[in-house]
Amino acid sequence: MRDFQGRTAFITGGAGGFGRAFAKALLADGANVALVDLDERALARAVEDLGGPPDRVLRLVCDVSDRNALERAAGEAIRAFGRVHLVFNNAGVGGRNAGLEELTTPDWEWVIHVNLMSVAHGVAVFLPHLRGHGEGGHFVNTASMAGMLGQPHMGPYSATKAAVVSLSETLFHELKGTNVGVSVLCPGFAKTGIADERPNPLAPEAPPPSKAGAERTAQVRLAVQTGLDPAEVAARTLQGIRDDDLYIFTHPDMRPWLDKRLDRIRAAYDKAERFAPLG
Ligand SMILES: NC(=O)c1ccc[n+]([C@@H]2O[C@H](COP(=O)([O-])OP(=O)(O)OC[C@H]3O[C@@H](n4cnc5c(N)ncnc54)[C@H](O)[C@@H]3O)[C@@H](O)[C@H]2O)c1
Repeated sequence: MRDFQGRTAFITGGAGGFGRAFAKALLADGANVALVDLDERALARAVEDLGGPPDRVLRLVCDVSDRNALERAAGEAIRAFGRVHLVFNNAGVGGRNAGLEELTTPDWEWVIHVNLMSVAHGVAVFLPHLRGHGEGGHFVNTASMAGMLGQPHMGPYSATKAAVVSLSETLFHELKGTNVGVSVLCPGFAKTGIADERPNPLAPEAPPPSKAGAERTAQVRLAVQTGLDPAEVAARTLQGIRDDDLYIFTHPDMRPWLDKRLDRIRAAYDKAERFAPLG
């Protein structure tokens, strides 16, 4: 999709840093936006800050990890604007930073529900609509460089973001030959609310952090505070949609880590080729 004029975008995590930046850039390009978020007050502030024409901005309070709630929100967006063309499965949480041996089942479940299941729901709910209206469409699933690399003391976050990369690759194959596309956005650190304290609704009494977990949290907060401007991430993302790119990267400075991972994988494959066949 090259032109956003008159198109409609459904943006989850719309009250957050990236969600707002996507909405601002899309409004400027002539699109309508439905901002979807769990945090009602932040959503109201986001819509006010955007200052877009009221008939082009819709605000929907929704827990996107709940498929029924997401279906209702999708229905409202379609009723309001007629059709949805761009779906940003973007809502996410950082979860609790802790070693794998410290993590509880609720630590895992919260992050899996929000970071992974909401993307699976977003695709399942919107795919028939995007295919059906025939005007073309595009999914943008927000993963992270954490999903490309794995990050210590961020197990659920890294695992769910790797799963979002994989889900997007699956969708890419399933969309072949249609006029619906998919991009997976893999940013490094950017200045948003992602590292803010956010209680796990499944376990309001979080266990005290370990020393390593607390150190990781401090590192991440600093990296986020000094990270990229979300407007830049949004600009690169819209370009990625126009170019129908499967992968959208925003932090070329992280290339050495990615190369190291790819080198390890290639070396392991080389080893498999050298291995004498069994029997
Ligand atoms: N900021 C970064 O450094 C960075 C880097 C890589 C990836 N990301 C990813 O970008 C995406 C957007 O995050 P952000 O950086 O703008 O952070 P943010 O915290 O500013 O925004 C996230 C938004 O998601 C909303 N949200 C959380 N749970 C929800 C739920 N169950 N239902 C609906 N909304 C929910 C929050 O209320 C918040 O407004 C996330 O998926 C995040 O993991 C961020």
